Amino acid sequence: MIYLSLLLIGLQFHSYQLTRVQEVQECKIGDNVMTKIINSNADFAFRLYKEMLSIRGDKNVLFSPLSISIAFAMLSLGAASETRRQIYRGLAFNLSQIEENEIHKGFCHLTHKLNLPREGTQVKIGNALFFERSLKVQHTFLENVRNLYHAEDFLTDFLDSTRAKEQINDYLTNKMSGRTVSILKDLSEQIRMILVNSMFFKGKWENKFHNRLIFEGDFLAYGNTTIKLNVMEKQNTQAIYYDEDLSCTVVQIPYRQSVVSWFILPDEGKLKEVESSLVKEDLDKWKNYLTLREIQLRIPKFSISASIDVTDLLQRLGVTNADLPEITEQLNLRFSQAFHEAVLVVHEDHTELIQVQHGLSSSGYFGDHRIKLTPPPPPPLIEFNRPFLMVIIDNDTGTILLMGKIVNPTKE
Ligand SMILES: *[C@@H]1O[C@H](CO)[C@@H](O)[C@H](O)[C@H]1NC(C)=O
Ligand SMILES: *[C@@H]1O[C@H](CO)[C@@H](O)[C@H](O)[C@H]1NC(C)=O
Ligand SMILES: *[C@@H]1O[C@H](CO)[C@@H](O)[C@H](O)[C@H]1NC(C)=O
Repeated sequence: MIYLSLLLIGLQFHSYQLTRVQEVQECKIGDNVMTKIINSNADFAFRLYKEMLSIRGDKNVLFSPLSISIAFAMLSLGAASETRRQIYRGLAFNLSQIEENEIHKGFCHLTHKLNLPREGTQVKIGNALFFERSLKVQHTFLENVRNLYHAEDFLTDFLDSTRAKEQINDYLTNKMSGRTVSILKDLSEQIRMILVNSMFFKGKWENKFHNRLIFEGDFLAYGNTTIKLNVMEKQNTQAIYYDEDLSCTVVQIPYRQSVVSWFILPDEGKLKEVESSLVKEDLDKWKNYLTLREIQLRIPKFSISASIDVTDLLQRLGVTNADLPEITEQLNLRFSQAFHEAVLVVHEDHTELIQVQHGLSSSGYFGDHRIKLTPPPPPPLIEFNRPFLMVIIDNDTGTILLMGKIVNPTKE
């Protein structure tokens, strides 16, 4: 499985020689600070999800709350005090409980931890700034984003918008391990700086789905349209929980090296109810109640992508000021637009794909009266063949890496 996420923030306005740095700082922080960061990030993730529902309606939803948090926390380093307070509040930080420098050190530490090499699973989080050549960037701002966010910086000729777009798209393609991304389509002539957060995740299932058990099945999308998808099937022991209060089934499917995905299947007709009442605390509840059970699991192979304009969302969360006087001394820079793009691909980890007929492995047991064998009950079937939700979490830190609602998946 692969997912990509990008956040691009364009700044309008209006240097000295910038050089790349590869300095890596770990930013040691206490466990209690880390807990506050993780909690606020989770609060922010759910608030954002709720806001997203109102603008995305019945469409797919896919975003990395972490990516958005990191990008705006980095941006806040250049903001005027009122804007900065709004950003912290928008990101669900409470300044009577956490200090500003703890927030930035927290993100620094978290990014460092998530980026540590893992076997079989790749997480890569990167930040970058693209500046107009003529811009005189404040030394303090630059030092902070380099040290705390490990941001790379590049000089860009924004007056030649074709070249600028090319440069930024090349950078992004490289960060996304060669996948072409199209987030930057148009570049407003007023843009003088772009801030980017990119996140790349590639994971292998801890227990792979076997490619011989793939069949073509139906997925009932919104509006009763049926989509043909390749469905993966496996029968084994899986951590699951049926949440009676929310009317949904949660299946935890781990990747290697402590990244877990939660597939959340609302009961038929209950999607709207589940997603509107889902809160951060449900994740803690599920974590405690997940139990290992033998089940027959079917999930589709699919991909989805979603692009969103985060500018509106941030305004809904109270970030209405946009003054960034600490970035450059020349002109009053204002934050103008932020775009987020995320792509998710789920497959079985095998390159070879063999199609088999639906129902091949759906026979649970055999019974034979003559030898008086009592058949064991077949394991329950949990089938993700209608809209469902997904959350991907780094299990070591408890960080939500990705959230999504899959209503209209594309066949893979
Ligand atoms: C922030 O924290 C303080 C002290 O813990 C608390 O009284 C206040 O209600 C919190 N504010 C918000 C918006 O949660
Ligand atoms: C989908 O089909 C079910 C039963 O066939 C029906 O009750 C429901 O109203 C339909 N929904 C839409 C959006 O057409
Ligand atoms: C997640 O972490 C907890 C400890 O915090 C551990 O007990 C559990 O086994 C881990 N789950 C996975 C799937 O790695």
